[in-house]
Amino acid sequence: MAVYIATTSAPVNIACIKYWGKRDTKLILPTNSSLSVTLDQDHLRSTTTSRADPTFEKDRLWLNGIEEEIKSGGRMATCIAELKRLRKELVEDKDASAPALSTFAVHIASYNNFPTAAGLASSASGFAALTASLAALYKLPSTPTDLSLIARQGSGSACRSLLGGFVAWNVGTLESGADSLAVQVAPETHWPDIHALICVVSDTKKGTSSTSGMQRTVDTSPLLQHRIKHVVPQRMEDISAAILARDFDRFAEITMADSNQFHAVALDTSPPIFYMNDVSRSIIAVIEEYNRVAQLPENGGKRKAAYTYDAGPNAVIYAPSANIKEIISLIVRYFPQQETFKDPFGLFGTAGVGA
Ligand code: DP6
Repeated sequence: MAVYIATTSAPVNIACIKYWGKRDTKLILPTNSSLSVTLDQDHLRSTTTSRADPTFEKDRLWLNGIEEEIKSGGRMATCIAELKRLRKELVEDKDASAPALSTFAVHIASYNNFPTAAGLASSASGFAALTASLAALYKLPSTPTDLSLIARQGSGSACRSLLGGFVAWNVGTLESGADSLAVQVAPETHWPDIHALICVVSDTKKGTSSTSGMQRTVDTSPLLQHRIKHVVPQRMEDISAAILARDFDRFAEITMADSNQFHAVALDTSPPIFYMNDVSRSIIAVIEEYNRVAQLPENGGKRKAAYTYDAGPNAVIYAPSANIKEIISLIVRYFPQQETFKDPFGLFGTAGVGA
């Protein structure tokens, strides 16, 4: 008897130009384009195994070993239904000998290799891995950009995790959402020197979810309307140009400005939403001061690091590899660490950095 099973994994991505707001909440169509970096390492990934079998009675899902309900009409059910539809259209209708997997129920098991509650974007890697896993199971001829249309309907930011490197999610204009998809601006190999340092400020679950927070912003924030019309389109062009030119100074300037404007629209929401805490703001102060000194003419005149914050207090700091050691030293000096810094890259020789 044939066994139909496939496993794939997908990484987390961290946005430089933030997605915040939907114009269609069912299809998950955004109010503005966004751009992110897909983290290219093993630490922050979701790995998903899917199996289709004629004896399965219904679709079932396990997240980190615990079964979760697949709510009818919900995001998970939508993604599974869309992928079954593609299997039928693109494979079974074209080849009568292809097994009718679209009629079998699926069992899906997904694991994150990082704490789900750590405020990192587990829904992005999770829905990207789910989509890629079913696409592999169904042997779909689709490209990652095609599949981004489906992952998007699981969680908006997930569409960007199907591609590596620097990825744009185009806002699109069609009501169907067919042009609201993710495209690669540049592969990871174009600028491998950029690193992301993740500073877990708090690992407790966030107060206001992205989904409900962004809708409140759409409904109440006048600043969001300004951002959508007058800020993001230019920033998308400028940051894409900075990435293509490997211009870190400009990349950093835009990334930090966009993180700050995203948190400004959160504050402009009624009632206001606060995602950063005092430690987050202190990290901003440290990086701003670090850049101020770096920008002095005698020090080269250019920024050396960029912070960005999503819907939580944790900082992600982008920097060229040459600056990482200095930045980690600064962070561990100013912010006492709960655990000894493990120094996975051997940056500090055998001693490591404790605090
Ligand atoms: C602040 O993709 O989690 O991380 O589409 O409702 O699932 P839903 O929201 P989600 O929002 C992510 C928001 C963000 C910015 C970003 O990743 O662009």
